[in-house]
Amino acid sequence: MSKLYFPEDFVWGAATASYQIEGAYQKDGKGESIWDKFSHTSGKVLNGDTGDIACDHYHRYKEDVQLMKKLGLNSYRFSTSWPRILPQGTGKVNQKGLDFYKRLVDELLEAGIEPAITLYHWDLPQALQDKGGWGNRDTINYFVEYSQIMFEHFGNLVSRWITHNEPWVVAFLGNSTGEHAPGFKDHKLALQVAHNLLVSHCLAARGFRELGLEGEIGITLNLNSVYPLTDSKEDQQAAELVNDYNNDWFLDPLFKGKYPDKLAQIYREEYGELDIKAGDMEIIQEPTDFLGINYYSRALVKHNSEAGLLQAEYMRTEESGYTAMDWEIYPKGLYDLLMNLYQNHTKLDLYITENGAAFDDQVAADGKVYDQRRKDYLKAHFIKAHQAIEAGVPLKGYYVWSLMDNFEWAFGYDRRFGIIHVNYDTCERTLKESAHWYKEVITNNGVDK
Ligand code: NOJ
Repeated sequence: MSKLYFPEDFVWGAATASYQIEGAYQKDGKGESIWDKFSHTSGKVLNGDTGDIACDHYHRYKEDVQLMKKLGLNSYRFSTSWPRILPQGTGKVNQKGLDFYKRLVDELLEAGIEPAITLYHWDLPQALQDKGGWGNRDTINYFVEYSQIMFEHFGNLVSRWITHNEPWVVAFLGNSTGEHAPGFKDHKLALQVAHNLLVSHCLAARGFRELGLEGEIGITLNLNSVYPLTDSKEDQQAAELVNDYNNDWFLDPLFKGKYPDKLAQIYREEYGELDIKAGDMEIIQEPTDFLGINYYSRALVKHNSEAGLLQAEYMRTEESGYTAMDWEIYPKGLYDLLMNLYQNHTKLDLYITENGAAFDDQVAADGKVYDQRRKDYLKAHFIKAHQAIEAGVPLKGYYVWSLMDNFEWAFGYDRRFGIIHVNYDTCERTLKESAHWYKEVITNNGVDK
């Protein structure tokens, strides 16, 4: 069988996030995060699951790094927990929190694995939420303070930095639909949060550059390709608005220095003006080094005048398969997205910082986990990524979500995304078949056609 080979220095990685895997939620001086509070509030997370123990990675990080080494990962993307470093979000630094990440980074470097740090993967210190959270502009400065501490301690060891993970989810699921912490249902607040996150991203990146560090810094957005159900004008308009909401609400400020006109107008009429200070849009536009993309699925939409402000309804289709998240499996959407980014938005280097799938995996009687569907999913997406590279897209690396099964936010432990299986009773890790297959892809730097 012939192979598709990736560029020589292509980065193959896997990703996780602090709250989803670490556990040790009160250990060594860690402060409370909004996800500690949210998951401890009854009715917020499926089955009442919490991240109190999660995968116990805080205590098992050495074993986990050895598994990564076995897989041959070039890089590992993880997030640092802000309330582990600054229990109150600002002010006094918790040395033991820094020590944990130093041990982890050392272990990775020792294993020849490049660490890639996400500074904010959703676990805001609760103390800052008590002051208004991301809706409060002061949080921008607190984030810059926290990021400076991280750069000062790890800037010479870690060469790839991501300021925010999926600001869309932080803003809208956290503050508009209320499915995520802190659980508000206030769309105007969500829009303000989105704006403040963008400003904080750029100010943190500016701080990084001012320290003269050699590494690269960017932001990770959750993006999808949006398609109208039919060619009708109404469906096309609905798709454009959904695209503005899902994607361009972040891409346009970053790369064009403005919010998408049409949707901004709709929001202005509905909610009034946001608090956008003079100079904010210039700050947001300051270039960073790369764009991180989390891609899982596409959106297929049709016009429906009853379907909220955007008058757009999300559709299912019979032709495609769906994952355990009920997300349509649509690899072509990744190709379309990458091409669209390159042609219409940015010439920056791109990384896929997350891609993967949840399925109901079982450990078989022989102790193995036969997750053929995850392997098929990843393979199909790798092939599409390769196709985009061939077409000239500067895609530099690919991080699979996730290294291991973990706490899937409002779904708790009910959805398994890992290429490594975690038994939540014993914390035992088992490489799934997809992990063995991924190891081969990395070794060959290529995938079978
Ligand atoms: C995106 C998020 O960054 C990650 O935390 C989450 O687990 C995956 N998507 C899957 O939903």
